[in-house]
Amino acid sequence: MTITIERRQIDFQRDGKEFPVDPKELVFDGGFTVPETNAFGQSFRDYDAESERKKAVEEFYRMNHINQSYDFVKRMRKEYGKLDRVEMSIWQCIELLNEFVDESDPDLDEPQIEHLLQTAEAIRKDYPNEDWLHLTGLIHDLGKVLLHSSFGQLPQWAVVGDTFPVGCAFDDSNVHKKFFEGNPDYNNPKYNTKNGVYSEGCGLDNVLMSWGHDDYMYLVAKENKTTLPSAGLFIIRYHSFYPLHKFGAYSHLMSEEDKENLKWLHIFNKYDLYSKSKVRIDVDKVKPYYLSLIEKYFPAKLKW
Ligand SMILES: [Fe+2]
Ligand SMILES: [Fe+2]
Repeated sequence: MTITIERRQIDFQRDGKEFPVDPKELVFDGGFTVPETNAFGQSFRDYDAESERKKAVEEFYRMNHINQSYDFVKRMRKEYGKLDRVEMSIWQCIELLNEFVDESDPDLDEPQIEHLLQTAEAIRKDYPNEDWLHLTGLIHDLGKVLLHSSFGQLPQWAVVGDTFPVGCAFDDSNVHKKFFEGNPDYNNPKYNTKNGVYSEGCGLDNVLMSWGHDDYMYLVAKENKTTLPSAGLFIIRYHSFYPLHKFGAYSHLMSEEDKENLKWLHIFNKYDLYSKSKVRIDVDKVKPYYLSLIEKYFPAKLKW
């Protein structure tokens, strides 16, 4: 089930610009399940289900914001950066993700593979010459295998949801910002100033992001020596970084190259959100094209 959430509790302002909440744009990107019935098998009435959903999303961000500290991210990057769990091809990973995300979520209206292919095919239609962008669309969510038992079955708060930098102050545009007060970094003077451990314009490459499927897939692609252009890697690593790509926050940490790449992320993001449609894709028909792109930009087997 894809849950529509209130990404922002309140509208806010930045640089004199107002950012109102548009509920239609607020889609939670990740296999997030909320039971349709309670423990006694009774269905929630609509308004109850709605408030249950809201509570589940709040609880998700409470756990996320409390636990995603600078030390936690460093630990996860070190651990998962070893890439010593599985060897498999990109397509095998797509199939793995497809299998178990479906199983874990009986309400999912379409297999995960459809979301990936819908994103890729929609981009392909509008940008026929940017084959790297088609492939980026296909693989951007593969890091969700972190939810799988062979990847430690990480909790949802360590895999999906909006991402943000750690090691510097949490920006106001972060969803459910109040929960950061429970994060050990919140009152640590090393980490709670505007630049924190970073310096102005240092480049997002040098910034630690909250841990999840984005940063993991970025590590996998980079360490396996992908030949995707830097804009592709940028999209993979920051596609859930809503404070940046929707609200322009944290731009003081960006390099000139980041600013160029952000243009591609803005393009990509439209497809990531709006391709979650009912357009069915004939997997067997498009598979050969994507296999040829995988072959062009990745080794046959990758370390995960
Ligand atoms: Fe994603
Ligand atoms: Fe996605």
